[in-house]
Amino acid sequence: MRYLALSVVLALALVGCDEEEQAAAPGDIAAGKSIAETQCIGCHGLDGKGKAHGIPNLAAQVEEYLLDSFRAYEEGVRTHAALKNLTKELSPADFRNVAAYYASLPPPEATGSATPDILSPYDKGKAAAAACAACHGEDGNSTTPGIPSLAGQQPIYFVAAVRAYLDGTRDKPTMEMLRALDRVDLESLAFYYASQTPAVREAPVFGDPAAGEPLTAGCGGCHGAQGVSTDAATPSLAGQDPEYLVSAIKAYRDRSRHHEVMRDDNTDEEIENIAAFYAAQGSEAAEGGPVTVQELAEKCDRCHGAGVDNPALVIPKISGQDRVYLIMALRAYRDGRRGSSMMHNMSLPYSEALIESIASLYASQPAR
Ligand code: HEC
Ligand code: HEC
Ligand code: HEC
Ligand code: HEC
Repeated sequence: MRYLALSVVLALALVGCDEEEQAAAPGDIAAGKSIAETQCIGCHGLDGKGKAHGIPNLAAQVEEYLLDSFRAYEEGVRTHAALKNLTKELSPADFRNVAAYYASLPPPEATGSATPDILSPYDKGKAAAAACAACHGEDGNSTTPGIPSLAGQQPIYFVAAVRAYLDGTRDKPTMEMLRALDRVDLESLAFYYASQTPAVREAPVFGDPAAGEPLTAGCGGCHGAQGVSTDAATPSLAGQDPEYLVSAIKAYRDRSRHHEVMRDDNTDEEIENIAAFYAAQGSEAAEGGPVTVQELAEKCDRCHGAGVDNPALVIPKISGQDRVYLIMALRAYRDGRRGSSMMHNMSLPYSEALIESIASLYASQPAR
């Protein structure tokens, strides 16, 4: 009985001691290595280099960040089945040790294989737009009656319009070439065109702009004052080709083009007047113009750059990280699948095109 009591007291003392030790003790690199050898080697390697695309490099990563990541998997802020299971199997001391081990390794060698694809979305879009210029004009300013200008157009609307041709919602036989565009091409084109300055048009030969203006009283709430939209999903009408405007408004009226909010019943003459009014309005670009990926990276480097030391934040190294993993991580922040209000704010505006370019840039930099 005395022995039992004693052993209980001892056990309690040991537990207390153990907890204190856990809070303070630095990770044991050798002990961490043996965990890595049994539990992590298959995916992260013993050298901390991801064994496949999509698996992050851990070598030389910020130790405190590695520990934060475990907590995030444990608490479900980040979701990944294999990691979640590991957090159940390993003790807090195991985590500290294995984090210390990976953090102590030299950074992974640069893969140095493929030339990085770090063309900015703007440049990608500009290159792709060459195929559209014959009809939509240089820089998207159409000079062909009946063909819409794309210059300055709102980017989300642009993408939706192309999708509508592809899925047949907008029943027009033109532009088979749109089928060849993938999501990145499309967003790059949208960004490029949105950044172009719409040309000023003369009042068209038909219609009366002065008579058209009062008829547009109910349009400005969505299409913006004088047809310059400030909503990325609603098209700008200002400076648009007048014949195209006429055919589009008629198409909604006649139900050959469908949209729940676009169904006014104006006469042909009224429609011509509305088109004349909008065509003659000055417009402006919807996006800020050429942004290079390098310029964007300057923003990221305020936190992720070499030598940045912000004691208030635990910031992971991203240079030399696996490209596919970077893409997945940025998408996860953008889509709200990975908690970090800070990174969410940073990545929310980023389209697929920007995310891929910026991931290529960081993956191509030497790890440090
Ligand atoms: C089955 C493969 C697999 C195993 C085994 C595995 N991991 Fe991972 N690990 C991954 C993948 C995939 C991710 C990326 C998950 C995500 O997108 O959040 C990851 C992410 C991580 C992260 C977050 C890194 C970052 O940059 O945010 C850490 C830390 C980590 N693993 C540590 C470990 C440790 C330590 C072990 C062994 C105890 C281990 N992992 C075992 C596949 C694995
Ligand atoms: C053969 C001439 C031609 C070519 C080449 C062409 N387009 Fe078009 N495009 C048109 C015509 C005509 C329309 C108007 C169709 C309609 O009435 O809906 C149009 C409409 C559009 C619209 C809808 C604009 C709006 O305001 O709703 C988008 C977006 C578009 N084109 C994108 C492209 C892109 C991107 C390319 C190049 C990859 C391209 N087009 C190549 C003729 C062309
Ligand atoms: C409630 C919001 C709303 C109002 C009000 C509205 N629109 Fe629209 N309009 C839209 C949206 C959204 C689209 C894009 C629909 C689509 O994808 O077909 C659109 C599309 C259009 C287009 C086609 C543009 C293009 O590039 O193809 C024209 C032209 C147009 N509207 C004219 C008008 C006119 C004229 C009025 C007023 C009489 C008006 N709209 C009122 C929301 C509105
Ligand atoms: C204000 C500081 C700050 C800025 C600016 C910033 N980040 Fe981050 N970033 C963080 C923090 C903090 C984390 C860790 C968040 C977490 O635990 O998920 C992080 C995490 C990441 C990760 C995940 C790394 C990994 O190993 O899982 C990536 C990728 C990333 N950032 C890329 C970027 C890019 C690209 C930019 C610029 C567009 C950027 N960050 C701008 C602070 C910042």
